[in-house]
Amino acid sequence: MSAEYKHEPVLLEETVNLLITDSEGLYVDATVGMGGHASKILSKLGRQGKLIGFDWDPEMVNISKNNLSSYGDKVKIIGSNFSAMEEVFKREGIINISGILFDLGVSSLHFDKPQRGFSFKHEGPLDMRINPANPLTAHTIINKWPYEQIEHLIRICGERFSHKIAKHICERREKKEFETTTELKNLIEEIMPRTSRKSNPATKTFLALRVAVNYEFENLTKGIQKAGQFLVPGGRMAIITFHSLEDRIVKETFYFMARMGGWKLITKKPISPNESEVNANNRSRSAKLRVIERIK
Ligand SMILES: C[S@@+](CC[C@H](N)C(=O)[O-])C[C@H]1O[C@@H](n2cnc3c(N)ncnc32)[C@H](O)[C@@H]1O
Repeated sequence: MSAEYKHEPVLLEETVNLLITDSEGLYVDATVGMGGHASKILSKLGRQGKLIGFDWDPEMVNISKNNLSSYGDKVKIIGSNFSAMEEVFKREGIINISGILFDLGVSSLHFDKPQRGFSFKHEGPLDMRINPANPLTAHTIINKWPYEQIEHLIRICGERFSHKIAKHICERREKKEFETTTELKNLIEEIMPRTSRKSNPATKTFLALRVAVNYEFENLTKGIQKAGQFLVPGGRMAIITFHSLEDRIVKETFYFMARMGGWKLITKKPISPNESEVNANNRSRSAKLRVIERIK
């Protein structure tokens, strides 16, 4: 692992045990991050078994290459959005995969690095891009999007006070543009007293910005569709989500696939971390794992 930052892989044993059905197969980690899940998968593969890891963030590509270097040519890391996996597989001549994992969202490194702008706990620029080449930033959304679009975005991400928050953002930016995570967090805290909630009142607005900046729902829907075409019969897709909106997309898509035929739900109900994992890693508390298998 990177000496400076650490990411604790979530639901590690459960995920890897359900994902691997053929130890000599080709596996894809669509969100390789620091390589925690990938390393566990690789450690369970036989002589022929291989893993391809994707990450959209060039920084994570370097970290995972370094962390997984001891596996030599059993692993290949690709800097790409997983929604473009079809083109990558065509380029690499890949037609059959035995399992694919999506561990969604961002890594602890993203939250812990103030300059990436993901967290209201650290002062940083309003950025939130997983890939710094992405033209859209949280700064653009907060300072340029019209009221209606901001209100809609934070409402669909579960914020009950979306009107109030969007209205105050638009009023405040008339006087001075927002530059930092702290400016935005402070405004939300000022208008929404903490007493009404358990978590910070800026939580859902920050989540909504991250989802929009990185097209997270679009990527997820496309990723599931693309991955399905490359799985061999008996191959599995495992998805770990961290909030209810993502989980709803996965649940509905998996149920739809099972109803259409050719797919079997392996987890009828999602798997959540046990108490000891949540105590050891607070970030895991909202994780949900769902798995589906291709049957023909
Ligand atoms: C929760 S972390 C994965 C952690 C990883 N399982 C581990 O054990 O280290 C999610 C990772 O997915 C990457 N990511 C997010 N969206 C992506 C996308 N659309 N395509 C490829 N990678 C993406 C992020 O950069 C981040 O490194």
